[in-house]
This record gives sequence, structure tokens and C-alpha cells, in this order.
Amino acid sequence: MKTYLVTGGAGFIGSNYVKYLLSSFDDVRLVVLDALTYAGNLGTISKDIDEKRCFFVKGDICDAVLVDELFKTYAIDVVVNFAAESHVDRSIENPRLFLETNIMGTQNLMDVARRYWVTGKDANGYPTWSPQVRYHQVSTDEVYGSLGAEGFFTETTPLDPRSPYSASKTSADLIVKAYIETYHFPATLTRCSNNYGPYHFPEKLIPLIIRNILSGKPLPVYGDGTNVRDWLYVEDHCKAIELVVRKGRVGEVYNVGGHNEKQNIEIVRMTIDTVRQLMEEQPEYQSVLKTDLSNISYDLIQYVRDRLGHDQRYAIDPAKINSELGWLPETPFAEGIVKTIRWYLEHQDWVEEVTSGDYQKYYEQMYSKR
Ligand code: NAD
Ligand code: TYD
Repeated sequence: MKTYLVTGGAGFIGSNYVKYLLSSFDDVRLVVLDALTYAGNLGTISKDIDEKRCFFVKGDICDAVLVDELFKTYAIDVVVNFAAESHVDRSIENPRLFLETNIMGTQNLMDVARRYWVTGKDANGYPTWSPQVRYHQVSTDEVYGSLGAEGFFTETTPLDPRSPYSASKTSADLIVKAYIETYHFPATLTRCSNNYGPYHFPEKLIPLIIRNILSGKPLPVYGDGTNVRDWLYVEDHCKAIELVVRKGRVGEVYNVGGHNEKQNIEIVRMTIDTVRQLMEEQPEYQSVLKTDLSNISYDLIQYVRDRLGHDQRYAIDPAKINSELGWLPETPFAEGIVKTIRWYLEHQDWVEEVTSGDYQKYYEQMYSKR
């Protein structure tokens, strides 16, 4: 039995990872640490917390005293760091918070881990590490910058972040790399493309579009809608992370992506078509509509002012994780998008809950500026 500290486990990918681990493995016990920012929601994982195999602690990854206490109390073997400020648009508004959480939080977790995990020194003065420990940094393909029409990001593509969000994630990756070189810190990293699926906060493209469609609101498409993202179903990402935690080589970076490039405008049109189709096939879904079914059409699309420094295209080459660890995406996009939209139609209470605080005001302010 290993004890994992899962940071950011009340957010989108972290909560999916918690559910995946609890349902697929008997040899793990989880301590979820989450600050419950606007993006974290305890209700998402409340059924998973049982105080036996899954504990929850509300707190900040930058809090050295708290993180130390968790290592002491729970004897942490593995850290999987999801906690982050994750939205590019917010990073353009308030970069500092991104640097604090994403960079200093990562450094704090690793420093506490060093205190508990080092067993001695080797002949060259490098720390030696307890054999069962592992730190995993959940990173993003956005650290590689933006592609033109051709090519893919590999693990050796030069880092070239262009937004405050991606600059903060790159900085965190470099600190992890520095610890690997300097202390032989037992860490791995994954850099993944855009995820989609259940529990995705509705400020990100796909859940935002679904939410707006259901109330007949305009669907904001930045710029000309030709920017490309490489979409991966969230559970496929969780499986890749766990494979790397268990079998990945210490010190290595693994790119994770589904070879599923789509222009934003394609995603928006597909989402409109799928919502309509599901509503027609299963009229009971129409009960969640706050508009007339006939309003669900491409007329809702509204091209708005582009995001500053908007990266044109992301595309991942996942050959390394495929050949070394045998990982392959399992969910074709056509299936994943229908699953995701169904989930949102059936979980409008969750959407209401996570958007009930200040979110609506924030959204209106953001979009009035576009
Ligand atoms: P999210 O915004 O949905 O969740 C982030 C979680 O971290 C929230 O629960 C939040 O409360 C928590 N958090 C924020 N600051 C914290 C702090 N200081 N201390 C403790 N908890 C804190 O993000 P997500 O989409 O689930 O992304 C998770 C990770 O995966 C991030 O590191 C992100 O950079 C990375 N990533 C995301 C994607 C994607 O498509 N969403 C793709 C690749 C990588
Ligand atoms: P997003 O979901 O914010 O993820 P990221 O910026 O990390 O890739 O955005 C995905 C793409 O969709 C990105 O190119 C920006 C675009 N976008 C819109 O066109 N409209 C929107 O309202 C949002 C939130 C994003």
C-alpha cells in the first residue's frame, strides 16, 4: 500500500484521477490537498472521501508548515502535483497568482519531500532516496509554445512559453528538472494536450460552450476560430499519469496526447450539433434547456476579439510514452464528446454549484471586454 498526496484533487483532472485510482487500484491510499479556489469543488469528490482510503485536507501547496504536517501524519510515498492556476485568460489578467501557485507551490512540495524522503548520501555527495518514493509533475504542452501548420511537439522541442500561464508551468518544470540534476530527486513529468470530459470547469472552451448553448447565450469564438488544440479525454490522461508514476523512468519527461487536432470552430459546431441531436433523440434532456430547441444553431456563434498572444496550434507526438510504456489513447473524440455532453446534460446541478459564487460576474466582465 502506498500513500499518495494528490494536490489539486478537487479540480478537473485531479478529481478524475482520484476517482480513477480509487476504482482501479487496491494498493493506494490518497490524501487530497486542495485550496478550493474558484476552480476546486469539494462536492466533486465528496463521495470518494471515506477517511480510510481517501482523506481530504483544505490548504495551499505553498504552505510549508501544512505540507510538512501532511508528510509527517500520513507518511507520503508519492506526490502527484495537479494543483495550479490553470486558465490562460485569467493569467493574462493576474499573472502574479500564477507564479506564486504554479512555481513556488511546486518548489515547496519538492522541498518538503526532500526532508522526508532522503535516506543518506552516495560517494559523490548526492542524496540517496527511499526506493518507493516518487514525485510527479503534471505539466502541459503549452510549455512548448505555438506551432505553425506543420509538425508536433516532442519531448526535445525547445521550451518557448508565450502566456503567463505557460511561462509559470515552464518555470515549474525547470525547477523540477533542476532538482532532478542537483539532488537526483526522483521525479517524472508529463506534458499533456487539452483535456475534456466530466467535471471540467465551465470557463474552459468545451464546457463553456455547452453551458451557453443550453441557455441560448452567444458562443464566444476568439479571433477567427482557426486555432488548433489537440484534445484528449481526461480519463486517458489519468491512465497515462499513473503509468508514468508506476513505470516511467525517473528524470524523464513524457508527452501525452491523442492525435486529435481540431480547430476551435470545429469543436463549437460539433458541440452544437451533438447537443441538438441528443435533445432530439432523448426529449427528456430538453428539460434542462433555458431556451427554445429551435435556437440551438450556428447562429449562436459570435466571433469576438482574440486572446492576447493566442497560441495558434498545439499538437503532441506521444511516441515516447507509447513505445516505452505502451500507452495509447482509448477514447475516440467522436465517442468522448458525446459522453462528455451527456454528462453535462445529466449533471446540471454540478454546473449550477460550481458557477454559483462569483463566477457569473467574472464571466460577464470578461466578455464585456471582448
Ligand atoms: P483546475 O483549474 O480544474 O484545477 C486546479 C485545482 O487546483 C483546483 O481544485 C484548485 O482549487 C486547486 N488549487 C489551485 N491553487 C492551489 C493551491 N495554491 N494549493 C492547493 N490547491 C490549489 O485545473 P485542471 O484543468 O484540472 O489542471 C490540473 C493540472 O493539469 C494543472 O497543473 C494544469 O496545468 C495541468 N494541465 C491541464 C490541462 C487541461 O487541459 N486542463 C492540460 C495539460 C495539463
Ligand atoms: P481553453 O479551454 O481556455 O484552453 P487553452 O487556452 O489552455 O488551450 O481554450 C481552448 C481554445 O479555445 C483556445 O484556443 C482559446 C479558445 N476559446 C474560445 O475561442 N472561446 C472561449 O470562450 C474560450 C474559453 C476559449
